[in-house]
Amino acid sequence: MKNPYHFLTYGFTLLLLGFIQHPCKAQAVNQQTKINQQVQSLLSKMTLEEKVGQMAQVTLDVITKGKDRFSSFEPVELDPKIMDDVFNKYKVGSILNTANNRARTPEQWYTIISGIQKFGKGRLNIPVIYGIDAIHGTTYTAGATFFPQQIGQAASRNLNLIKKGAEITAYETRASGIPWNFSPVLDLGPDPRFPRIWETYGEDPFLTSEIGKAVVKGYEGDKNDISSPFHVASCLKHFIGYQVAVSGKDRTPAYISDQALRDYHLPPFKAAIDAGAHTIMINSGLINGVPVHANYEILTNLLRKELGFKGLVVTDWGDIENLHTRDRVAKNNKEAVMMAINAGIDMSMIAYQYEPFCDDLIALVKEGKVKQSRIDEAVTRILTLKYQLNLFEKPVTNYKDYPKFGSKEFENAAYQTAVESITLLKNNDNILPLKKTAKLLVTGPNANSMRTLNGGWSYSWQGEKVEDFASKYNTITEAIQNKVGAENVSFIPGVSYKMDGKYFEEYADKMDEAIAAAKDVDAIVLCLGENTYTETPGNLSDLYLSDLQTEYAKKLAATGKPVILVLNEGRPRIISKFEPSMQGIIMTYLPGNFGGDALASVLFGDENPSGKLPFNYPKFPNSLVNYNHKPSESRSVVEGVYNYDADYNPQYEFGFGLSYTSFAYSNLKLSANSILANDELTVTVDVKNTGNREGKEVVDLYLSDLYASITPDVKRLKGFEKISLKSGESKTISFKLNKTAFSFVNADNKTVVEPGDFEITIANLKAKFNIK
Ligand code: BGC
Repeated sequence: MKNPYHFLTYGFTLLLLGFIQHPCKAQAVNQQTKINQQVQSLLSKMTLEEKVGQMAQVTLDVITKGKDRFSSFEPVELDPKIMDDVFNKYKVGSILNTANNRARTPEQWYTIISGIQKFGKGRLNIPVIYGIDAIHGTTYTAGATFFPQQIGQAASRNLNLIKKGAEITAYETRASGIPWNFSPVLDLGPDPRFPRIWETYGEDPFLTSEIGKAVVKGYEGDKNDISSPFHVASCLKHFIGYQVAVSGKDRTPAYISDQALRDYHLPPFKAAIDAGAHTIMINSGLINGVPVHANYEILTNLLRKELGFKGLVVTDWGDIENLHTRDRVAKNNKEAVMMAINAGIDMSMIAYQYEPFCDDLIALVKEGKVKQSRIDEAVTRILTLKYQLNLFEKPVTNYKDYPKFGSKEFENAAYQTAVESITLLKNNDNILPLKKTAKLLVTGPNANSMRTLNGGWSYSWQGEKVEDFASKYNTITEAIQNKVGAENVSFIPGVSYKMDGKYFEEYADKMDEAIAAAKDVDAIVLCLGENTYTETPGNLSDLYLSDLQTEYAKKLAATGKPVILVLNEGRPRIISKFEPSMQGIIMTYLPGNFGGDALASVLFGDENPSGKLPFNYPKFPNSLVNYNHKPSESRSVVEGVYNYDADYNPQYEFGFGLSYTSFAYSNLKLSANSILANDELTVTVDVKNTGNREGKEVVDLYLSDLYASITPDVKRLKGFEKISLKSGESKTISFKLNKTAFSFVNADNKTVVEPGDFEITIANLKAKFNIK
C-alpha cells in the first residue's frame, strides 16, 4: 500500500459517514464502548471470590424459607439467613426458575425479585440477573398470554405472528420483573421418539433458522437493544446436537459426524447468533462420547473462534456436576468444574449445591489449573450482559408499568397463532367444516383438558398444574359448546388420563356409554393424543398411540358415524392402525390457552386452516426417516415385484396441510438456466386460489442438488412464504436464491457449492438449472 495514512483517513471518513448516515448505529457503538469501560473498571475492583460468585446461578427454592433447598413454604418468602450465605458469603450473581415449580402473579414476582435485588447486590452494587423459561409465553406467570408451543408455531409458517408472539412474551416477562429468557430452542427435532420435539420448530434446518432469527428479534428488538424495559435477552439452546440421541431418549448419547453437525445442526444457531442473540445454553447430552459441557472444540473453537459468538454461555441444569456424577469423565466435582470452565463455560446453572462449585473454582484458580484470564473473560461477559440489560440502573421492572399484560390484544395474537398452526391432514368427502346445527359427540382424553392443550412448561415444568391457572380459558368441548350451543353437543370422555403423576396411564372412562351415545349423533369429534410431559419424564417406549385410545377409535369408527380425529400431542404418535377409518383428521399440536377456541373456529368453518406439518408424520415405528433423506431411503417401487413395504412412506409428509379452498400453481420461472456459484437466481411462480373461499397458503421452495460429492438429500427447503388469497385471486411469488442455498458441507467439513445440475420444486412444478 502506497500511503497507509491515506487509507486510514479514507477509512475514518467512511466510518464517520457511516455514523452520520446511521446515528443509531453510532449511538449503539458509543453505548457499548461506555459499557466496556464500566465493566473493566468494575472488574478491576473485584476479588476472586466476587468474580467466581458472578459465575454461579442457583434456583429460587434455595433462597426461600422452606424445609430444605428443594422446596419452599407457601406463601413464598425469601430467607435472609440463607441469602446471607448465598449473596454475602458466596456472592452468587444469578437466580433462576420459580419456587415449588408453580407460577406466580406479577405482583409476587415483583416482591420476590425486588427483595433479591435489595439483598443481593453486595459491596459493589452489582445487580443479580434473573433467568426463566418463558417458552410459549411467560410460563411461570399467572395471567400471562400462552401461545402454541414452538412446534405449532412452526406449523403456522407465519413469521410475523411468531415474532409478535416473542414480543408479547418479552413484554410479559419484563412485566414479571425478569430480563432473561431461556428461549428459543433451536435444536432440530428430527426424531419423533424424543420427548422435547414440541419444544423445537421441527425437523428442518432452514425453517428453524428463519423462525429462530424472527424470535431473537422479537425478544431482543430489531436492534437487539435489550436495555429497553420491553425486551429480554434471548438464550439459544441447547448448543448443539441435542435431540438426536441414538436411543431417542432425553440426555442419552448422540453420535454425530462433524459433517452432519455442520450441515444440519449448526445453521439455526449460526443464523440466530448473526441475528444478535445475547446468550446461549449448552446441550446436556454427549456427542461421540464427549459431554458437550466439557468439549473445548465445540464451546471455544466452534462457538467463539468460528461463529464469533461474543455473548454469555450458560450450562444447562446441573450439568457441571453431571460430568462427574453422571458422565464420569471427571473423577470428582473439582475436576468437573475445571473441565467445563476451561472448555468455555461462563456461568454454571448449578441449581442447588453452590458451595462446591464456588470453592472448587476458587481453589482451581489459586492452583493455576484455571487461568485468571479465563475467569476475567467469563465475568466480563456476565457484567456486560447486566449492563446491556440496564440492570445497574433498574434492577427490577415493575408490573404496574405494563398495562398490556394479559390484554385482549395479546390474547388475540395467541388465538390467531393457534388458528394458523392447526393443520388439516384429512378431509374425506369434505366432512369439514361441520354444520353448526350438527348433533355432535365430543369425546376422548384430550377433549376437556386445558392441561393437554398447553403441554409442559405451562405454569409448572411438566404442565401438571395447568388446571389451577387456566380455568378461564376454553377446553375443546367448552369452545365447541360456546360456538354452537350446548344442546347439540354432548361430552363423554370414553378414555381419561390418570392424574396422579403417571403421565401416560389411561383408563376407560364411560367408554360403553360414549359408544352408545355415538349412535344418535351426526358426527363424532374424537380428541386423542398425549398427556403433558417434558424432558426425561416424557421418554417413550412405544411411538404408537396408546392401545386403549386405538381400541376406542376403532370402536367409534365401527358405529358407522363419521369420526373427526383431533390430535392434541407434542410429537407425532403413530395412528396407522386406525387412520383409514377416520373421515377427517386435524392436528392441533399443543396450541395453548386459545387452542380450544381456534379448533372450534376451524371445525365449523369460521376460520380456514392453513398450518403445514413441520415434520414427517410417521406411519410405522421403524420408519422414522425425515423428508430431507437420502435417495437410497426412497427408491421407486415396482409394484408387486418385491415387498417394499418398508420404503419411505410417511403417513403425512413435512409441509403437508389441507385447506377448505384449493390452490393451483403455474408459471414456474427461473431468471437463468445456467449461473455461476456466486450469482443470484430469481425464482417466480404464480399461485391462484381456485376454490370459493378466502384462504392462506404456504408456498414452499425445495432445492435438489442432483449429483454431489456427498450423496445429496432428495430435496431441501430453501424458501417459504405464507400468503393470503381471496377466491379467484392470483399472486406471483418470488424467491431469491444464492450461494448459501446452493451449498452443503462436504467430506472435509467445508461449506462448498459444487458445479452441476440442480432442480427446484414448488408444489407440483419443477425446473432445472445448472451451476458452472
Ligand atoms: C432444561 C432447559 C431449561 C433449564 C432451566 C433444563 O432442565 O433442559 O431447557 O432452560 O432446565 O429451567
